[in-house]
Amino acid sequence: MSKFLSAKNICKHYKSADAGRIQVLDKVSLEINKGDWAMLIGSSGSGKSTFLNIIGTLDKADSGQLMLEGKDYAKFSAMAKAKLRQEQLGFVFQSFQLIPELTALENVMLPAQFSSRSSQAKKRALELLDRVGLSSRSSHHPGALSGGEQQRVAICRALINDPDIILADEPTGNLDPDTSAELIKFFSELRKQGKTIVMVTHDHQLKKHATKVFSLDQGKLKS
Ligand SMILES: Nc1ncnc2c1ncn2[C@@H]1O[C@H](COP(=O)(O)OP(=O)(O)OP(=O)(O)O)[C@@H](O)[C@H]1O
Ligand SMILES: [Mg+2]
Repeated sequence: MSKFLSAKNICKHYKSADAGRIQVLDKVSLEINKGDWAMLIGSSGSGKSTFLNIIGTLDKADSGQLMLEGKDYAKFSAMAKAKLRQEQLGFVFQSFQLIPELTALENVMLPAQFSSRSSQAKKRALELLDRVGLSSRSSHHPGALSGGEQQRVAICRALINDPDIILADEPTGNLDPDTSAELIKFFSELRKQGKTIVMVTHDHQLKKHATKVFSLDQGKLKS
């Protein structure tokens, strides 16, 4: 399988008034092939979300290289990164980041607003909500949804533009075991369709589904 997505020597630090300099990522290098289901595990604060945000172009590394299909996409312009996120990446945030004023359906449709798929967005959004068991919640606002329901809406939103790569930060974090199993089945189907999945999880049970497991420990990748 061809090399598809790779990170080389990614470093990231934060400075805070009380803790001083924190090295969050220390020369993290990994390679993901097309069709992989990669899982990123590690204790709280080990840098998983920071790393996912960086490979999703939502945050910038201090140094290192990111390659997607042979292109150093960390060096893309802001416009080109926005296009990449719009067309190729689907991001599920750890904190969902749904818009409170919009219904579940409107939240899911939002990323399709400026895409070529906008005419079919409503139909597709309703299909996605149905797939995750939320047909009856499409007109609810996030405030009227449980954490697990909001999480599934966030997953549908990440999928609305049919991205090649799904970056999901603890997508089963708020789900009961049955709903979690149902969602994992959905991710397996997406993989069979050729999607590449990079998923952060605390659930070691899920490792059996992974084609690659990366373990972060205080910003370093353990081998
Ligand atoms: N904007 C920020 N400013 C300062 N420190 C930050 C910032 N964002 C993250 N950090 C710190 O970076 C470290 C890694 O954070 P990150 O969110 O990547 O961890 P994580 O592995 O996703 O943890 P969790 O499992 O709890 O979600 C933490 O120590 C965190 O406090
Ligand atoms: Mg996190």
